[in-house]
Amino acid sequence: MRKIYVFDTTLRDGEQSPGVNLNTREKLEIAYQLEKLGIDRMEAGFPAASPGDLAAVNAVAKAVKNVTVIGLSRSKEHDIDAVREALIGAQDPCIHIFLATSPIHRKHKLKMEKHEVLETAQSALRYAKKYFSKIEFSLEDAGRTELDFMVEMVSMAVGEGVKVVNIPDTVGYLNPSEYGAIFRHLKENVPDIEKVQLSAHCHNDLGMATANTLAAIQNGADQIEGTINGIGERAGNTAIEEIAMALETRQEFFGAKTSLNLSEISRTSRLVSKLTGMVVPGNKAIVGANAFAHESGIHQDGMLKEKTTYEIMTPETIGLKESKLVLGKHSGRHAFREKLLDMGYELDEQELNQAFARFKELADKKKEVSDDDIMALVEEKLVDT
Ligand code: KIV
Ligand code: ZN
Repeated sequence: MRKIYVFDTTLRDGEQSPGVNLNTREKLEIAYQLEKLGIDRMEAGFPAASPGDLAAVNAVAKAVKNVTVIGLSRSKEHDIDAVREALIGAQDPCIHIFLATSPIHRKHKLKMEKHEVLETAQSALRYAKKYFSKIEFSLEDAGRTELDFMVEMVSMAVGEGVKVVNIPDTVGYLNPSEYGAIFRHLKENVPDIEKVQLSAHCHNDLGMATANTLAAIQNGADQIEGTINGIGERAGNTAIEEIAMALETRQEFFGAKTSLNLSEISRTSRLVSKLTGMVVPGNKAIVGANAFAHESGIHQDGMLKEKTTYEIMTPETIGLKESKLVLGKHSGRHAFREKLLDMGYELDEQELNQAFARFKELADKKKEVSDDDIMALVEEKLVDT
């Protein structure tokens, strides 16, 4: 089974979610949990962004031991120096240098010709090489960059000895077949490409970050980048838990796996949500409150007979205790009777019929019927008779 390396950027791209600001203590708390989750690489921040971020990256670098700690840097000596300072004390430091390559960014943001982009990145890599043995290089907005210029840039980075080349779909513009084809093209056209790992970094503007990342894996990506709960700039980044569970659930299809401790997924998701203040939507894949909840009578009946009827993965895999059968107006007698048994009520057939009728009346008026509601409607009847 091919191993896919997980580069977590919750503390950097994730923190770039509007309204999110993590202090050093919060970054440390998340970093320790990410270490338990078993990620391979952790981008702890962008040290040149502020003295506070530099200090936070340094605290993370000194604290975590089993993970490569990464600091982000533009292709500027000043930024590279900030990462050097921030990663003092890291057991396995890595610098992540980026420069935009697309025509839109070259013209409007950088005001550079192609050759200037290439030279700027190359001289940044040469400067960084003096201080770092591990370098990742990203072609920002690779998704909208000409293929032949990408080949030129990646060839240059390979020649400079970087360990990882990242191909970001910075604005979430591509679809899976296009994104996968880029990886295939680079594999086929960049000399010595086997000397580097290729990395996928997707944004979710069109809701395709997970699909695009999986397409990259199918076309030879060795590393995936993403965040917990998919938080990040605008519509967010690839959700790491979605990739890990897609690979786990469809092993026979992808033939690739992360080495995450999957049972830490749920705890990590809750911690990130709590500390960032970003609420996880109920229907979010894998970690939403409804991801393992069933409301309709038909589904509940199926679940009570055999869980695989309506669940393709178990809640225990991601560290949850069990699935939930939520009682509401779509629920049926089977789930209702099981609930009563769980709550210690053994009703005869007639009592059950009456209680079920009262439950349906109540369910028509409420979105979800709670244990207290059920207790009330059963106890009331027991007192009446
Ligand atoms: O989306 C992006 O292009 C980035 C780079 C800094 C890698 O986050
Ligand atoms: Zn990004």
